[in-house]
Amino acid sequence: MAIYIPEDKVSEIRHAADIVEIVSESVSLRRAGKNLVGLCPFHAEKTPSFTVSPDKQIFYCFGCGAGGNVFSFVMKQDGAAFADAARALARRYGVDLPEKPLSGRDQKRISEQDALFGVNRAAAEFFHHTLLRQESAAPAREYLQRRGLTLETLSAFQLGYAPKGWDHLLGFLTRKRFPPPLLEKAGLVVARKDGSGFYDRFRDRVIFPIWDEQSRVVGFGGRVMDDSTPKYLNSPETPVYVKRRILYGLHRAKEACRAEGTVYIVEGYLDLIALHQHGILNAAATLGTALSPEHIRSLARFAGHLVLVYDSDEAGIRSAQRCIDIFWKEHVDFRRGDVFREDQADTHILVLPEGHDPDSFVFQQGADEFRRYARTDQKSIVSFLMDSAVRKHGLSTEGKIRIVSDLQAPLSAINDSVARALYVQQLSERIGVPETAILAKLREPAAASATRGVPDSAAGRSDTEAIEPSVRMEQRIISMMLQFPEIISEVVTSNILALFTHDELKAAGEAVIRFRLQSTDQLPELLEQMEDGPVKRCTAFLAIGDEAWTLKGCKSMLARFVETRQKQGAGRSIQKAIETAEREQNEPEVLRLLSEKQKMAVRREKQKMFVLRKK
Ligand code: CTP
Ligand code: MN
Repeated sequence: MAIYIPEDKVSEIRHAADIVEIVSESVSLRRAGKNLVGLCPFHAEKTPSFTVSPDKQIFYCFGCGAGGNVFSFVMKQDGAAFADAARALARRYGVDLPEKPLSGRDQKRISEQDALFGVNRAAAEFFHHTLLRQESAAPAREYLQRRGLTLETLSAFQLGYAPKGWDHLLGFLTRKRFPPPLLEKAGLVVARKDGSGFYDRFRDRVIFPIWDEQSRVVGFGGRVMDDSTPKYLNSPETPVYVKRRILYGLHRAKEACRAEGTVYIVEGYLDLIALHQHGILNAAATLGTALSPEHIRSLARFAGHLVLVYDSDEAGIRSAQRCIDIFWKEHVDFRRGDVFREDQADTHILVLPEGHDPDSFVFQQGADEFRRYARTDQKSIVSFLMDSAVRKHGLSTEGKIRIVSDLQAPLSAINDSVARALYVQQLSERIGVPETAILAKLREPAAASATRGVPDSAAGRSDTEAIEPSVRMEQRIISMMLQFPEIISEVVTSNILALFTHDELKAAGEAVIRFRLQSTDQLPELLEQMEDGPVKRCTAFLAIGDEAWTLKGCKSMLARFVETRQKQGAGRSIQKAIETAEREQNEPEVLRLLSEKQKMAVRREKQKMFVLRKK
């Protein structure tokens, strides 16, 4: 039944629940200063970086960036929605939940979704039953047998057969009293052009039901049994089948992904099923849809290490480019300041030997060989692009120029300066072009095609090194706001956040101000209100530290920050102008600028005093 949990109850649960107790059920914790540490349950690790603060009732993993309060922990651990996690905790801590009905609109949306899940389930059962029992499905059974699938697999994935003819499913479902417009909404039938009713979308095809993470049927794929086209026919997008979110097979893969810390991302239905039948359970399929930020985010909850498995270089290259774009938008910026770690960036590409997809590979060579190959041949995205460029262009002078050009965008996209330096060095050694030449190329504005999808923050890349220390100051300021909320009013009145350059840190600071954080006791509640994503991770990371803040120390830090920023901004441009004027021997302009610079220094001093003076 659709219900929601009233706010005061959520707060009651939050206060009743003890994060240490809940985490201790699955993680063995030991004391480390004020905090407790243990091996992270969300990614594979050998030294403990999972940290719980009993005082603040929050957790953060320095390895994978997972963090939040007791609700976030249960949600992440069980792959549960908020309401379910809250309900589980309420039961456990004896909080009574008077369950209030949903608003009319939510009610309607949820009942529509329930209706779609219901009709999809009935259709999946019809197709499956037809495959196993009907005479007419004999060719389909033979086809699947030829593809090597066992009976156990057919039932595990509820494979089916859609019979020839125009209305078998339609007839079956209407007899079960599902209204035809609902079937149409689910994408199971198509309206006739002349308005005279509906016909079955899937006819004479092998059927693969598609599930969401909660094991509800959201759609279908249907494959022909010969070489005719289209090879696959899929359900359209519906309110429950949102293609950029769904990963085929994930509902059966979650546990294995977590246990292995790795997930293989494959393209096709049969790739996933074949891996599964061979005992490789930590896999999910994108079903021919381009890998999306949602896909990556959803997988990153279960495994820190993502391996994209492709059957050709071209497919790999396309996807690698896309991944780089995604990381640009989603994560890369977040690594600036090199304190944060983003496991999402730990993405590798595995290209199978010529002519193989995961399905054919695992059937021909076996699971052990697949695992061995995956271990030895997967490459990081950048190494992969480097190798492909070398193969494609060769090492002639022309070739080298093209290689550097191909790699300009991906290399510039790496915000971790150490990683970038190492890749530049690697490329330089590989193709015999001096590092300085490659670095110079990275500072050039990228070619139009290569900047596709690169956000504006990419501009001014070459400044990154210069601004890192002050980004660290921004980090310190957010830590301070979180751990020493007394300072927040100061941050607000001096409008400190306006000087921030780092988007996530700024967003974190704004969230803290909006929330009106008064004491560290409210940190769990603050985190709960934040949406999952980089800003929340960054907040959890900065909140869990325990530093000894004093009002005086905080104020002087704010003053120093204001000073640095002003120097950087105005100072830099005025200095440039002075140099130009000097070169042009424009004496009056030089004098004017020098006096401007002097005035600026005075203003800066005043602002600094302003921050320091106030208590
Ligand atoms: N696909 C699709 N429609 C098509 C072709 C492909 O939706 N006309 C999707 C399917 O999800 C398919 C995936 O893209 O599984 C990969 O396509 P492809 O490599 O062509 O097929 P395989 O999965 O290898 O299919 P099979 O082994 O059955 O030939
Ligand atoms: Mn295949």
